[in-house]
Amino acid sequence: MKLRFACLLAISPLIIANVAQKPLVLPVYVENVTERLIETATKQQTYIYGAPRLGNTSFFPSGPMGQQLVLDSLVSFEEENAVISERTREDIEDLMKVVDVHANFTSVDDFKQLYEGQWRRSVPDGLNVGVLTNATLDLQFSMERLSASPFSLRRLHPTDDELPFDIDQSIVSQIAGEDLDSLHSKGQLFFVDHSVQLALPKTTRYSAACSAYFFIHSDSGDFLPLAIKTNTEFDLIYTPLDSQLDWTLAKIMMNSNEAIFNEAYHVAAAHAVQEIVHLAAVRTLSAAHPVLALLNRMMVGSYAPRPMGEAVLTNPGGVFDTYTSITGTGALQAITLYYHYGAGAYQSNYFITILESRGLINCTWGPPLQHYPFFEDTSSIYLSLQSFMKTFVESYYPADSIITFDNELQDWIKEGTKAAKIIDFPDSPIRNRQVLIDMLTHFAYLTVVHNTLNGGDPVSVSSSLPYHPASLHAPLPLQKGVTDIMPWLPNASTSIGEIALFAKFNRPVFESSSFLNIFNDTKFLGASNDAVRQAEQAFRDEMNALSSMIELWVFDADGLHRGMPSIWNALDPKKMALSSAI
Ligand SMILES: *[C@@H]1O[C@H](CO)[C@@H](O)[C@H](O)[C@H]1NC(C)=O
Ligand SMILES: *[C@@H]1O[C@H](CO)[C@@H](O)[C@H](O)[C@H]1NC(C)=O
Ligand SMILES: *[C@@H]1O[C@H](CO)[C@@H](O)[C@H](O)[C@H]1NC(C)=O
Ligand SMILES: *[C@@H]1O[C@H](CO)[C@@H](O)[C@H](O)[C@H]1NC(C)=O
Ligand SMILES: *[C@@H]1O[C@H](CO)[C@@H](O)[C@H](O)[C@H]1NC(C)=O
Ligand SMILES: *[C@@H]1O[C@H](CO)[C@@H](O)[C@H](O)[C@H]1NC(C)=O
Ligand SMILES: *[C@@H]1O[C@H](CO)[C@@H](O)[C@H](O)[C@H]1NC(C)=O
Ligand SMILES: [Fe+2]
Repeated sequence: MKLRFACLLAISPLIIANVAQKPLVLPVYVENVTERLIETATKQQTYIYGAPRLGNTSFFPSGPMGQQLVLDSLVSFEEENAVISERTREDIEDLMKVVDVHANFTSVDDFKQLYEGQWRRSVPDGLNVGVLTNATLDLQFSMERLSASPFSLRRLHPTDDELPFDIDQSIVSQIAGEDLDSLHSKGQLFFVDHSVQLALPKTTRYSAACSAYFFIHSDSGDFLPLAIKTNTEFDLIYTPLDSQLDWTLAKIMMNSNEAIFNEAYHVAAAHAVQEIVHLAAVRTLSAAHPVLALLNRMMVGSYAPRPMGEAVLTNPGGVFDTYTSITGTGALQAITLYYHYGAGAYQSNYFITILESRGLINCTWGPPLQHYPFFEDTSSIYLSLQSFMKTFVESYYPADSIITFDNELQDWIKEGTKAAKIIDFPDSPIRNRQVLIDMLTHFAYLTVVHNTLNGGDPVSVSSSLPYHPASLHAPLPLQKGVTDIMPWLPNASTSIGEIALFAKFNRPVFESSSFLNIFNDTKFLGASNDAVRQAEQAFRDEMNALSSMIELWVFDADGLHRGMPSIWNALDPKKMALSSAI
């Protein structure tokens, strides 16, 4: 112990620069560590790993201080929720003046009245431009897998992946200009699989459990849909060569499965992971540790969604029971399933790592995607996050060796894998700063994941009506040849309920809690150092610049933007929330 402090104290003047506010400081620079040891020992007794909530995923805080942590989140959640709920309520009132809630819609055009000039308080920017007008275009359907709903798609490997299902070769040739084996062997075939949803407990409404092929067209380079298989009792395979109504219904079935996936997956991938990583940090790091101060800032309000979800989403008679084809219990099963089969893992979900492993970027055995909006937007945000984290980590740890001596940080890493049971957390001990930079960048990136799947995205695109209903309202067809898709779509009152539900996930009014300000917190910045304050300013400038660029986006001469017939802007830093607090 003595030797350790002797060698490290030499660097301490670099660190303890800010005297105005009690500065954040690593334990290695504290002369008398007794207080910090007492603090962390006390926290181990008062913040306890309690039973998981909203699915059997990661532990949820309990113990006297753990419960307080949750209460603080609920208070902050309620503040925002009160505002947005009131706005939504007023919007519904306005809507009821023009829509008869007892009506059954008779054509898809009827759904337009649910949006045009509506939701001005809760969704003031409206839906993404093009989402309503171009909803039936195949390119909109396929490109949603590369933007608003990007977490289920993967590229099939020519030899490691067998073809999940077969399609008539002449049909494939007509659509793609080559056969299925050719697309597969050239790495141009992609797959989404929601067949696990088949086994989930059902409500009185309906859904398929679709799997779908997408492909890169050899001539145009476009990313397009090839086939949708329903996987239900009357297992039908639809393609763009079917009648327009059949194919549209197939796309609706797929979108409906994707909406269930998005909601369940986002709980597993964002909430359950950020919370447990933070809780392990709370128990092992002093409140004066810079890493805990940073994590605390990114977790504002974030312990509210799991208990709120149990109270209003998955409870008997709650949102799942009311709107989807999967019961609340089924939703909990889906969350649990996704968490343990991929979503809950830490390092293997790093932004570049996961997209490479799904064959979507840096693919060595197939052509690149010519447009990839989710990747493009997240890349620029990720680089800025990484740059902030690099300054943050290097300003507190002037050398890799300091990491090794930070007993609190090493306890966090050890605790992460052991007591906290975080899946795929870095091995203990960590020996260099890059590992910490990557860990912290990923933590912040999970908030971007949250904003992609939740936040404003569902209401603006991925759960917009009538093509993304929460469930189907008639039994699935026994065969192709439907003459009307209206029986499968929600009526007026159900539609309003669905839109209002997702409108409440949007956060249009809270500039101070937008992603721009993820590191802009008076307390955190005041207690940090000049390098961090400058990095925060730089980050905010970069996010402002990105936001200004996004505001200028328009369609090109072909009516497309980044290869999509709609302008996807969910990752505008001014539209995103700074934490996963919804
Ligand atoms: C270190 O701090 C503890 C707790 O505040 C105190 O009891 C102890 O006397 C201090 N030791 C020294 C050497 O100052
Ligand atoms: C939750 O999952 C864990 C393994 O992750 C298992 O040991 C436990 O029995 C499960 N609990 C319930 C209530 O299913
Ligand atoms: C609308 O559909 C829902 C769900 O199918 C049903 O419970 C409700 O009674 C319908 N409302 C009207 C006015 O028909
Ligand atoms: C709407 O459709 C439902 C079920 O098909 C039917 O029971 C109801 O009478 C219809 N309502 C109106 C206003 O046509
Ligand atoms: C993978 O893609 C990322 C993002 O485009 C790039 O930064 C990185 O250099 C690529 N890696 C390889 C090995 O090509
Ligand atoms: C930074 O945060 C402070 C405190 O919340 C706030 O007053 C200020 O407006 C924020 N800065 C910007 C540019 O939003
Ligand atoms: C998509 O919709 C917009 C209007 O919102 C239109 O200007 C554009 O041409 C459409 N794109 C295509 C490919 O049809
Ligand atoms: Fe959420």
